[in-house]
Amino acid sequence: MSKSYVSRFTCILVLMVSMSIGSIKAQKSDTLWLQKIDLSKVSQEWGSPSANLSVEKHPLTIGGEIFKKGIGTHSEGLIVMNLKGSAERFHGYVGLDDEVKGKNGTIRFVVLADKKEVFKSPVMKYGMKAVKVDVDLKGVKLLSLMVDNGGDSNDADHADWANAFILYKGAKPEAMGTPFVKPYILTPAESPKPRITGAKIYGARPGNPFLFMISATGKRPMTFSATNLPEGLKLDPNTGIITGKLVSKGETVVIVKAKNKLGVATRNLKIVSGDKIALTPPLGWNSWNCFANAVDENKVKAAADAMVKSGLINHGWTYINIDDCWEIKPGSDDPMLSGKPRNSDGMINTNKKFPDMKGLTDYVHAKGLKTGIYSSPGPTTCAGFTATYQFDEKDARRWADWGFDYIKYDWCSYGNISKGNTLAELQKPYIIMRSALDKVDRDIVFSFCQYGMGDVWKWGEKIGGNAWRTTGDITDTWSSMSKIGFSQAGQEKYAGPGHWNDPDMLVVGLVGWGPQLHPSRLSPDEQYTHISLWSLLASPLLIGCDMTRIDAFTLNLLTNDEVIEINQDPLGKQAGRVLKKDGLEIWVKDMEDGSKAVGIFNLTSTTEKVKADWSVLGLEGKQVVRDAWRQKDLGQFTGNFTADVAPHGVKLITIRKAK
Ligand code: GAL
Repeated sequence: MSKSYVSRFTCILVLMVSMSIGSIKAQKSDTLWLQKIDLSKVSQEWGSPSANLSVEKHPLTIGGEIFKKGIGTHSEGLIVMNLKGSAERFHGYVGLDDEVKGKNGTIRFVVLADKKEVFKSPVMKYGMKAVKVDVDLKGVKLLSLMVDNGGDSNDADHADWANAFILYKGAKPEAMGTPFVKPYILTPAESPKPRITGAKIYGARPGNPFLFMISATGKRPMTFSATNLPEGLKLDPNTGIITGKLVSKGETVVIVKAKNKLGVATRNLKIVSGDKIALTPPLGWNSWNCFANAVDENKVKAAADAMVKSGLINHGWTYINIDDCWEIKPGSDDPMLSGKPRNSDGMINTNKKFPDMKGLTDYVHAKGLKTGIYSSPGPTTCAGFTATYQFDEKDARRWADWGFDYIKYDWCSYGNISKGNTLAELQKPYIIMRSALDKVDRDIVFSFCQYGMGDVWKWGEKIGGNAWRTTGDITDTWSSMSKIGFSQAGQEKYAGPGHWNDPDMLVVGLVGWGPQLHPSRLSPDEQYTHISLWSLLASPLLIGCDMTRIDAFTLNLLTNDEVIEINQDPLGKQAGRVLKKDGLEIWVKDMEDGSKAVGIFNLTSTTEKVKADWSVLGLEGKQVVRDAWRQKDLGQFTGNFTADVAPHGVKLITIRKAK
């Protein structure tokens, strides 16, 4: 054998051996233990995920059995895995962690292979044995591991994915988290020419102080004028602020004008003098989702300043609302919070963070903005501050004297006073406060915050509420926001001018329940979904971020006049859901001018082509479709409109009959 032949032979041999080793290796499955994934991609509503430990950092224990490996998480929870076409099986055990002993945690585990449900546990409670999951993943692209709250609140929902792993061959599956998309801007730049924005209808009670600002975008200086202003009102031509007191009842169509050196805009404003206020959903800001207990007078003043400086005020944003934590905190040794809760005459006191409430409301009103306050019907508020129990008339008088225009009235600690959860007991504190508010000579928006108990939407209007929370508290996660928003279906018949369903405040921008803030954990598409859905729902829109540090994306999100117009439409209809299929939803809102606002939502993790059929939307013939975010007509369509919708994203359109 020649030398070269030997060496060629050796080469082939080595190649063959290494190829066969390679193929042996390729045949063997690898194991990806769930606790080894990037835990920052796990989304959950409470706490943070832990490797090999429960959410409260104890050994993973289900029904008395300890598991060495796995992830401790919490409902509402979601882990999305990109399987890269290489996965074979998912295997593990699920259950409620024993660390919640004595509490009423209930959870359910659901596994989706792409969009198909391949596993659903029973509702799991304390003490139940772990349930085995074993699913085939061949050919599956996305694996979603979900924990829901078992149909109640997320209280004590400590959820374990125990001894859980993915078997795969080839590329290693990866946790995806929420699909990351860079913030992108849709709202077109404002024209320097005048454009009148905000509410087209405004209700006030005769004899009470009147305050309404004509909001308009466009280059300043700008002057305002109005024809046919009802008796008792006057307009400041430099600010657009209308003040005074209505004298008699009735409706008046006022023609308002905004003028700058580039042009003039004209619009009708209907002023309704009567018993009803909040004829369109309140638009504004509230301190809770950003500052919580860290709120103080300076932050509220700064919020009012920011509303003006950012230009939000020019789009109709009006209320600057103080949430909890302005009162004295009984038992607190913090000198800022302690003191006498009430004066000897029973009037409530502020804590030292709010040294001059009247000065504060004057400051806000001078800008043409309005302002709100918070309390609870129990002895203490949710955060443990002095509340209204047995001082209803005194508190209503105090808020009116201070100059507040909005009261958010919670429930906390009233649970210890009420005799059970009968309808009469649920309504009682709100009826009492309604009659106290009726005795003051001020228009105060009355917003109930009792999380939807007793189906409040069915009776909130009857007992004089202007808005009522329909759910528990929102937080800045996809699971929280989407669960709350998309669960409003069916409640549309209870909302209308002067009485609105309230699925809680906005979680865009810098939020954090103070003092530490963070950018909303919602992706840009999720934020478009949030604002689109809340606008369709004719919900009160209360910005929950630090407006002094608002970024361009958030500002853009909150200043789209065509989107705000959907929310503020004078007809006051709330959108209803007309389609729900395979994670896709279509919601429709009838508008005053006969057009329809339509939200096409994609709740799945992949881009989807969605068809909105005229038959589903209640339409016929040729229609003009307009992209509300881009403020652009998309053309004429017959039969349907079909669009690609991003994961967790939305296409918000208006549809009007073609001429
Ligand atoms: C909660 C309410 C929150 C906030 C908080 C104040 O009950 O839902 O929005 O107002 O109380 O303590």
